[in-house]
Amino acid sequence: MQFSPPMNIAVRTALKAGILARDQFDRRYEMEIKSKGKNDHVTSADLAVEKEILSQLKKAYPKYGIMAEEKGGGLTTDRPCWIVDPIDGTLNFIHGVPHFAISIALATGSEILGGVVYDPMRDELFAAEKGRGAFLNDRRIRIVRRAGNLTGSLLATGFPHRQLEKFPAYLKAFSAFSAVVDDQRRQGAAALDLAYVAAGRYDGFWEIGLSAWDIAAGAILVQEAGGLISDFSNKGNFLLSGAVVAAHEGVHKPMLEIIQEAGLTE
Ligand code: IPD
Ligand code: CA
Ligand code: CA
Repeated sequence: MQFSPPMNIAVRTALKAGILARDQFDRRYEMEIKSKGKNDHVTSADLAVEKEILSQLKKAYPKYGIMAEEKGGGLTTDRPCWIVDPIDGTLNFIHGVPHFAISIALATGSEILGGVVYDPMRDELFAAEKGRGAFLNDRRIRIVRRAGNLTGSLLATGFPHRQLEKFPAYLKAFSAFSAVVDDQRRQGAAALDLAYVAAGRYDGFWEIGLSAWDIAAGAILVQEAGGLISDFSNKGNFLLSGAVVAAHEGVHKPMLEIIQEAGLTE
């Protein structure tokens, strides 16, 4: 991987934070859990991992902006901004399901410059930088174009569990997909879902109600691996709208058609 200095810092920071996250996962019985809202939790592990990440990033680039899930902050447009999700997949983490990741992206406004998604339990580091490609543990990843239909696909999704009013339209799209694809997965960590699309493990991923920190790093991974990512109107507003369709070129359009036909909006 030949990355710029800030992206090398992001990679090093994610690896270091991963050691802490794994340690916190092993000691999760001591963890404090607080509720931020319905089905939205913050644990002492989220806070400790985020603190570690922000201290590393601030030490290296004190002038960059920061938007982090637990600390807050908005996207800066006048200077680069880190977008941080310390633990994507908190509910998995709380329940002892070893499927979660650290997600760090670098952006200026809504233009994503680079991103790292690190799964510390499998020691899988997905990293990408604009114009420099996408990698999984130093090996280049590229999405291979498949036929222009959904037959034989494996998709990933996330339920609109904080927007229950969207469920009827969501389920309409879900059952329309189920009629044509091989199957759909809901693993509970959107950053990893996107990284898996970039790695060709999933043919596509769709979800609504996400936040910028769930999406940013995974989005550049998909793009640099040769895939497409958009919102539900096939525009580029996914970071702000939180609605995402990411896939290889062959299935992005048929996925959008099913979502739009179901009347699912962001
Ligand atoms: C969540 C995960 C999950 C998605 C949720 C997100 P968190 O992030 O990405 O897959 O369905 O909407 O909030 O809260 O575990 O960081
Ligand atoms: Ca998240
Ligand atoms: Ca999180």
